[in-house]
Amino acid sequence: MNANELRKTYIEYFGAKNHEIKKSFSLIPDDPSLLFTVAGMVPFKNYFLGKAPLVFTRAVSCQKCIRTNDIENVGRTRRHHTFFEMLGNFSFGDYFKEETIKWAWEFLTEIIKLPKNRLYVTVFTEDDEAYDIWKDKIKVPEDRIFRLGKETNFWEMGTVGPCGYCSEIYFDLEGGEKGRVSAEDIEKNDDRFLEIWNLVFTQFDKKEDGTLGELAQKNIDTGMGLERLAAVSQGVYSNFESDLFMPIINDAAKRTNKKYGEDEKTDVSLRVIADHCRGVVFLIGDGVLPSNEGRGYVLRRIIRRAVRHGRLLGLKKLFFSEIVPVVTHIMEEAYPEISERKDYISDIIKMEEEKFGETMDKGMEILEREIETMKKEGVQELSGAVLFKLYDTFGFPAEITEEILEENGMSADRKGFDEAMEKQREKAKAAWKGFNAELAEKIPADVIEKTGITEFMGYCVLYDEGCKVLGITGNGKELVSAEKGKKVEVILDKTPFYAESGGQSGDTGILKGEGFEIRIDDTQKFDQRHIHIGEVAVGTVKKGDLARAVVDEERRKAVMKNHTATHLLHSALRRILGNHVEQAGSYVGSERLRFDFTHFAQLTGKELDAVEAMVNEWVQESGEIEIEEMEFSKAKEKGAIALFDEKYGEKVRAVSVKDISMELCGGTHIKNTGQIGFFKITGAGSTAAGIRRI
Ligand code: SER
Repeated sequence: MNANELRKTYIEYFGAKNHEIKKSFSLIPDDPSLLFTVAGMVPFKNYFLGKAPLVFTRAVSCQKCIRTNDIENVGRTRRHHTFFEMLGNFSFGDYFKEETIKWAWEFLTEIIKLPKNRLYVTVFTEDDEAYDIWKDKIKVPEDRIFRLGKETNFWEMGTVGPCGYCSEIYFDLEGGEKGRVSAEDIEKNDDRFLEIWNLVFTQFDKKEDGTLGELAQKNIDTGMGLERLAAVSQGVYSNFESDLFMPIINDAAKRTNKKYGEDEKTDVSLRVIADHCRGVVFLIGDGVLPSNEGRGYVLRRIIRRAVRHGRLLGLKKLFFSEIVPVVTHIMEEAYPEISERKDYISDIIKMEEEKFGETMDKGMEILEREIETMKKEGVQELSGAVLFKLYDTFGFPAEITEEILEENGMSADRKGFDEAMEKQREKAKAAWKGFNAELAEKIPADVIEKTGITEFMGYCVLYDEGCKVLGITGNGKELVSAEKGKKVEVILDKTPFYAESGGQSGDTGILKGEGFEIRIDDTQKFDQRHIHIGEVAVGTVKKGDLARAVVDEERRKAVMKNHTATHLLHSALRRILGNHVEQAGSYVGSERLRFDFTHFAQLTGKELDAVEAMVNEWVQESGEIEIEEMEFSKAKEKGAIALFDEKYGEKVRAVSVKDISMELCGGTHIKNTGQIGFFKITGAGSTAAGIRRI
């Protein structure tokens, strides 16, 4: 079967068994503990943990995943990838081992008809239950079932979270009668035995201290790499020879006048390019942009590694961005959205390719000279300073330099590199001291611990009586009281003051109580506390005092107009430029708004005029702003624009103007678009590759 058929057949098979069919979630998980979605179960984590109400108890998906922990192996083996798709069926307290095993076996042997005599299974050493199901119910001969230890048959997502014993299904790539197979063969001989499906019986929750807690319900999490399944189903030895990769490899090979399969070094580079192009297309498709940090750095590293392998094949011109349409063509049946964004994706890659291309040859020259000298002098390790210079000046991710060194049997001084990097960071920090870092310095941790989460009243009222002063700080210390002239930060139990977030600036105003008055110049959020920042203007305030909190109404109303206008602007941009426009940042103040968004080209005068006119038309229509709390899924269904992916069953706040805009937003808004009065674009530009600013 081809990969499209396999994907579809799998989803339909489990769909017919009452599984909720879930579209792939984003590669960017809504989970601060993870950089990327690394498995099909990641988006369901809260279901496993019982932290979200179960709206369904069975699900099936084909999930986009990224794993980069062994990126240097990608291209060198036939089964390592950065991007891959994971087919998975899930049970949340519904079916358990028996059905899972039965259906997995049926799917492989009856539906896609893999030969039984090439399949082997493993279970966790102590899992007699799973062993017996395979042996007695499925009738797999005992010499094909192996018990393996924790290393292989215990699955965990990371250091914490849902985990459990597993049972794995292996495919014998060589087949035929080759004598008795042992547990050791399965575990170690991965050239012959390819793990194709991992059935995890998720019943534990691993805690920070390493102990295992029992989950309230027994769950199932299975994962089968589509690339591997495609390879075995298509009777090829390597994932790269399946229809998911071969057209990309052939395209790259054609550009270099080389043929795949003739020379191992060439093949490695072709595989790197093919794999990385898929990864890059999906990462950019999900909104990641090349940068020097976090996800953006991973993306940058992947692009640059591919470009370097292109150079190894003799490709001097820009080539990587040109392969994008081959990838989108293969994948568009399952992911039509990447085809819609393919020009944007190509443009981003091209810019990164150009940027690296300009300095790469120079950097390579330096590195080669360096390697030469090291060889002559019998030195093994490249200095951290040179490693850093290649990174900083020539754009070589340290890992790429290390890979090149490794090819020459050398290494690099990573510690020295980290030190150089740290020094540079310190310098940058000194140049710009971020406000929140400052706040962290100002408010001692125990003050935060002693005060509770602030209740925000400011959606409905702009002043409130009886707000209790829970904490006062000044000069980085906790204060029992503060008198006139003292600069302070004040935490209340409840407040109408909006604390800066989601781009909307913090409120200003006055806190007034028996014998004191505090002028508030800004409100910031810190660990869910609203921090009122200002100066005592009259008298003395003491911890425990009650205050009347009065927000500067005129200013806040102006902020609200700008915030609603920001939503209208966002909507107008999507209508005029296309749905690839996504918010990349914003500032909403009283005097103006600023909006950053993803769009590759500079906006023409005509486009800007059209955007402005559209917003003004909506202003004049005086549409009502409706604010409603609803389930995330319902908001999504209604077409709400969200900055994050699905939040299972959680309530979200949807801000909408009928037929015009609907966004999930925690900010404050006016009641009617007419209150905006008039909308004017005063400037448009760009802040980074692919990010425009209005
Ligand atoms: N979470 C398991 C894995 O990634 C099964 O889906 O292998």
